[in-house]
Parts: sequence; C-alpha cells; structure tokens
Amino acid sequence: MPLSIGLIGSGFIARSHAAAWQQLGTTLFLYSNDPPAATALAGQYGGTVVDELDMLLGQVDAVDICTPTDTHADIAVRAAAAGRHVICEKPLERTHAQGQRIIDACAEAGVHLFVAHVVRYFGEYATAQAAVAGGEIGSPAVLRLTRSGARPEWATWLHNEQRAGGILLDFMIHDYDFARWIGGEVTSVYATVTGSDGPVSGTVVLRHENGTISHIQGTWSRPGEPFRTTFDLAGSGGVLTGDSLRRPPVTISVPEPAAIGHALADDPYTAELAEFAAAIAGGPPPRVNAADGLAALDIALAALESARSGRAVSPTQVA
Ligand SMILES: NC(=O)c1ccc[n+]([C@@H]2O[C@H](COP(=O)([O-])OP(=O)(O)OC[C@H]3O[C@@H](n4cnc5c(N)ncnc54)[C@H](O)[C@@H]3O)[C@@H](O)[C@H]2O)c1
Repeated sequence: MPLSIGLIGSGFIARSHAAAWQQLGTTLFLYSNDPPAATALAGQYGGTVVDELDMLLGQVDAVDICTPTDTHADIAVRAAAAGRHVICEKPLERTHAQGQRIIDACAEAGVHLFVAHVVRYFGEYATAQAAVAGGEIGSPAVLRLTRSGARPEWATWLHNEQRAGGILLDFMIHDYDFARWIGGEVTSVYATVTGSDGPVSGTVVLRHENGTISHIQGTWSRPGEPFRTTFDLAGSGGVLTGDSLRRPPVTISVPEPAAIGHALADDPYTAELAEFAAAIAGGPPPRVNAADGLAALDIALAALESARSGRAVSPTQVA
C-alpha cells in the first residue's frame, strides 16, 4: 500500500516537497498554522488539508516537517509519540539539545528519523561524492565549497538569529554536511562573518580528523543575483570541480581534463523523498541519517561560536 504522508508547513520549502510527493504518487495530508496557504498548496499539488496536528497524526504513516527550524523538535516529538516516522527539513533544530531531543524521541518510539540534507541528492554533488569514494582524486586534501544567492526574505523568522541562526547555520549547513560526507568527521571549526545589512558573507574553515581541510564560503548577495554553488575537491591524485552554472557541471582534472556526466535526472527533492519513503517501506537506509543531521548542526553551532569568540571551536564543545 502506498505511504500516507503528512506535510507540515506550507511555506517556501513545503512547495518543493509537495511537488515531489505529488510526483511520487503519495497520499498527502497537509497541516499548517497558515490554513489558507495550506489550502492553496493542496489546490496546486493535491492532498487533503486538516485543521489540527493531532488529526494529521491520526491519518498518516510519516510526517514531513517543513516548518521554521526552532519548531522542529516540538512537532517531531509529538509525531514520534504518536508512532509516526519523521522526515525533517535541515537544520535538524536550532540547538544541539533540541536536535538530540528529536533523535531520542524517535529512537524511544522505534520510528525512523530522516534529515533532509538535499544537497546529497543534487546530481553534481552525488556524482562528486561517488567519484571521491571510488578513488578518482586519491586521498582528499583540500575541499573548497562556495554557495551564493540572495538573502532569503520570504519570512520574518529567517531574520531572527535566535530562531534561524543566520548565514552560518541556515545557509552554509548544506556545505558542512557535504564536506563531512567527503572528508569525514570534523575536529575544529574557525569562522568569520562580514556584513550585517545588505550583502553578508561567512567564511568557515573545517579541519577533519584525517587531516583534510575544508574552506567554505557563503554569501547572501543582492537580490537578483543568480543562485550559484561551486566545489573544488583537491586530492593526492587529482582535482574535481563543480559549478552549478556550468554545463556539464562536474569536471575532473586527472589524468586529463574531462567532464563527468551524472545519472540523477530527477529533481533532488523527489530523489531525496523517494529514498526516505523506500526506507520507511523497508528498503535500504538512505544516504543521510539522523546522526549526520546532528553532526552538521554541531558544525554550524561551532561556526557560530567561533565567529562570536574569534577562536577555533570543536563541534564537541557545542554538543
Ligand atoms: N533544503 C533546503 O534547501 C531548504 C530551503 C529553504 C528552507 N529550508 C528549511 O525548511 C524549513 C522551513 O523553511 P521555509 O523557508 O519553508 O520557511 P517558511 O517560513 O517559508 O515556511 C514555514 C511554514 O511553516 C508554517 N508553520 C510555522 N510554524 C508552524 C507550526 N508550529 N505548525 C505548523 N505550521 C507552522 C508557516 O505557516 C509556513 O507555512 C527551515 O528549517 C529551513 O531551514 C530548507
């Protein structure tokens, strides 16, 4: 029997999830504290709007939490207590304690918990990770990752550092997760932020346990500038580069410059949610798990503390 999913929230990212669930043929229920927006979403992508969270929890196999970051734990804990599997947007939560609370509640209830780090499902990133794991660049040494786009302006909570965490948490967590996927566990984080009004940039250096260094740059630029991500993965045997504005986006420099195609034609949100749904139905574990979600959050929290204190911070210090 196809899964029944409860989509919670009806804002920016819920739209991508609703479109993906429609594509997967899922039976969808929607709940939001903005009922007209939930009704509009259901009108576009299908699904049944319900008025109360408990009504939703009574109807579904799993919830898909697309609400502001600092609301994830309360919703996830209620879903787990009702015996529902949990899919949760990144960042897992705003603090380590609340992230751990979600993990503990899901473990205690015996339900799956998946954190939606969608970058792992973008074709160019998935291709690069597979190439590195296949030994194409030898041992990873220096990873350079950039992410730039207009500052998110669609919701007031995103401007509240206490709720969203700013560029170092909300935006750059995508790259911390990717860097950790490639380079392994992170032992130290050094971060700076420049700008407060208008363009804002964060620069974060990660030292990985195996000696790999990641250099991560994020910029919230002026509205209208194109969203762009790049990576440059240098290892003992070659360099892999990726650029979201280039076609084809991924090239490798060794033995000689060559483009690498990728097979993931799907929209990354559809690929991600299909993998989570398959795992809920008894299939293999997805490529990103709850511990990865908490580890990425801890790196982001260490970056925030580093930018505040001017010192390098270990992710274990914020846990
Ligand atoms: N994967 C990505 O690339 C990506 C992109 C954007 C946002 N996000 C993440 O997704 C989450 C949501 O971000 P957004 O930009 O969609 O925010 P948003 O403000 O656009 O949407 C949030 C939605 O949640 C609803 N809501 C708020 N509190 C609620 C509650 N207690 N119960 C039910 N509904 C509630 C709001 O009415 C709104 O519909 C955040 O954690 C954010 O970091 C991920």
